[in-house]
Amino acid sequence: MKLTGRTILITGGSAGIGLSFALKFLNLGNDVIVTGRRQAVLEEVKSKHPKLRTIQSDVAEPAQIAALAAHVKAHFPKLDVLMNNAGISLYRNLKAPAADLAGLMAEMNINVGGVLRMTSAFIDTLKANKGTIINVSSGLAFVPLPCIPIYCATKAAIHSYTQSLRFQLEETGVEVIEVMPPAVKTDMTADLPEGDGFTLITTDELVKQSFASLKAGALEIRPGQSKQLAFMRRLAPDFINRQLWKSSKKLVPIGVG
Ligand SMILES: NC(=O)c1ccc[n+]([C@@H]2O[C@H](COP(=O)([O-])OP(=O)(O)OC[C@H]3O[C@@H](n4cnc5c(N)ncnc54)[C@H](OP(=O)(O)O)[C@@H]3O)[C@@H](O)[C@H]2O)c1
Repeated sequence: MKLTGRTILITGGSAGIGLSFALKFLNLGNDVIVTGRRQAVLEEVKSKHPKLRTIQSDVAEPAQIAALAAHVKAHFPKLDVLMNNAGISLYRNLKAPAADLAGLMAEMNINVGGVLRMTSAFIDTLKANKGTIINVSSGLAFVPLPCIPIYCATKAAIHSYTQSLRFQLEETGVEVIEVMPPAVKTDMTADLPEGDGFTLITTDELVKQSFASLKAGALEIRPGQSKQLAFMRRLAPDFINRQLWKSSKKLVPIGVG
């Protein structure tokens, strides 16, 4: 992937992995726009990093995506990179009925729906500018961590969708990249007990490994333990699935669905 002179839109770029990628892209001389739901967080990020452009937008809300697309196309016609990064992860007890059936779809709406909607809303611009789509899935697309079952299903869905997207866009000049992070220290993983079968890397380490792969032209990037999960899934799927269940069993919420 060409890493300089691009106009880049990163969903969920106000924190964690998205923000770390945004700052790295900014340092490399790109024009970078980040989105998020919370205006206050975006303002805080903007005050620390004035060169970063921030726009409030929720990837689960089709009307907000339409408004974002209209704004970006009018003000940033050179947009040529879309990084679908926004995501949430929730611990779920599948043995209990969900108190809120609409809420049960939250991860689907954001992690899957958000990627599908954003890609569709920007595909004409990305084709016109021979751009790049970067989808952030997870090493858990290969093997589920059963305490976050719906999250893992969303990431497996994005892994599948990204492969189809890459084929369909093959002759359009749009490159499709998938970044599949391992466990990374961010707000998302704040409750994950480190050292108890879980190893977390820093966002700096993720950025370092991912940018080395981006620079080398990789299309499917499996940093750190994600490489091992992909390998184990092929070598010993029953073993690795059971290992992840054993280490995550105690994280399933008690009683609630
Ligand atoms: N951390 C990990 O271990 C890990 C591992 C593999 C993959 N990933 C993936 O990496 C991506 C980023 O994760 P992270 O760890 O950096 O999470 P994070 O620290 O919780 O940050 C999530 C970001 O997404 C934004 N966001 C959440 N829902 C949104 C929505 N509906 N619309 C727009 N923005 C939204 C958040 O801001 P607001 O809350 O203000 O909207 C925030 O900026 C996710 O797709 C995640 O699944 C993470």
